[in-house]
Amino acid sequence: MLEAILIVIISFIPAMIANSLAVVFGGGPPIDGGRKLKGKRILGDGKTWRGLFGGGVSAGIVGLVLYFVCQPFFSLYPSFLEGLIPMFSLSFGALLGDIGASFIKRRMGKSRGAKAPMIDMYDFVIGAFLLTLIASYGWFVPTYFYFPGLWGTIIVILVLPLLHRGVNIIGYKLGFKEEPW
Ligand code: CTP
Ligand code: MG
Repeated sequence: MLEAILIVIISFIPAMIANSLAVVFGGGPPIDGGRKLKGKRILGDGKTWRGLFGGGVSAGIVGLVLYFVCQPFFSLYPSFLEGLIPMFSLSFGALLGDIGASFIKRRMGKSRGAKAPMIDMYDFVIGAFLLTLIASYGWFVPTYFYFPGLWGTIIVILVLPLLHRGVNIIGYKLGFKEEPW
């Protein structure tokens, strides 16, 4: 029971930290290349290729480390190779969710860095879930949506977005982020 819940929470760590790592690696050319849609930036200068790949790859590597740390106690994934796709889809999915949110925020007329309460808290969860559902259906559905793992998913959904906010405040205080959200 506890093991199934821990697997969900620990395997979700790459998704949790991908956006913070994107802040560290970010900068350089924006993904939208500066292009606009109906007079507004498609994504804005806050979404860069370096942030996407630097954050996605480094968060995925943290997933690999977690795999080896957890392996002696319980199996985070059926095997190392079967774990690769979920860990990278959780990290890249989180970043794609954040990019999707920027697209929506720009359409709403919000400028880069503007606050968007619900969107900012859940974008990465939705992105990570959707990409992993597509890329790793056979692992994701039983692990995250069958009991008792489902309890872990409920904890992730309720608690982690708040934690995400906490991490952003720390990033802001440390000077990595321009805004505390
Ligand atoms: N970042 C990046 N590439 C990404 C995501 C983030 O380079 N794919 C970097 C940018 O420097 C960005 C910072 O991390 O400014 C903070 O990320 P975030 O809060 O997601 O971006 P915002 O600047 O707030 O832009 P937006 O309003 O579009 O979310
Ligand atoms: Mg922001």
